[in-house]
Amino acid sequence: MPGATKLLKQEHRSIRVALDFAERMTSWIERGEDVSSEALARLMEFIHLFVEQCHHAKKEKIFFPALESKGVSTEGGPIGVMLADHERARALIQEMKGAVEKYKHGLPKSGERWARAAWDYSGLMQEHFGKEEEILFRMADSVLTPEVQGVIVADFQRLEEESCGPGKHEELRAWMRELASRQT
Ligand SMILES: [Fe+2]
Repeated sequence: MPGATKLLKQEHRSIRVALDFAERMTSWIERGEDVSSEALARLMEFIHLFVEQCHHAKKEKIFFPALESKGVSTEGGPIGVMLADHERARALIQEMKGAVEKYKHGLPKSGERWARAAWDYSGLMQEHFGKEEEILFRMADSVLTPEVQGVIVADFQRLEEESCGPGKHEELRAWMRELASRQT
């Protein structure tokens, strides 16, 4: 059974697939190509369920508190930086969601609005994952024993089932892979 940091890194890999797909869509939109509103809506659902409801919730409700209990500081420390990134990400998601609704109804410039927010979101998340993997997870591996990480993983699984429903997490991951292999 992989530890908590390894599991979070595996999730980062799935999310990076989604981010690459989002970036490809932004370039199609900027070139004036037609992108289906269905593809945009599915990507937004993945971000909502997989990234927000599951991945970030695991960190905020379980992983960060476990680190705090081992003395890793929140304010002015790495957890505070991560939380600020999550907040900025949520604001960009709201912008993207609003633009997708307008795009569905064919409103002018809505595609470009979505593309700008999606580009910023992808850049923010790529950088955020880098910081977590290079700094926070290394710190976590030095303060959380394998036993503690095992308890965290069990809590992650419970949260996943409650937030996404049983099996939904895997389904979303497979769905993202399928979506990413499509051309439009
Ligand atoms: Fe994070």
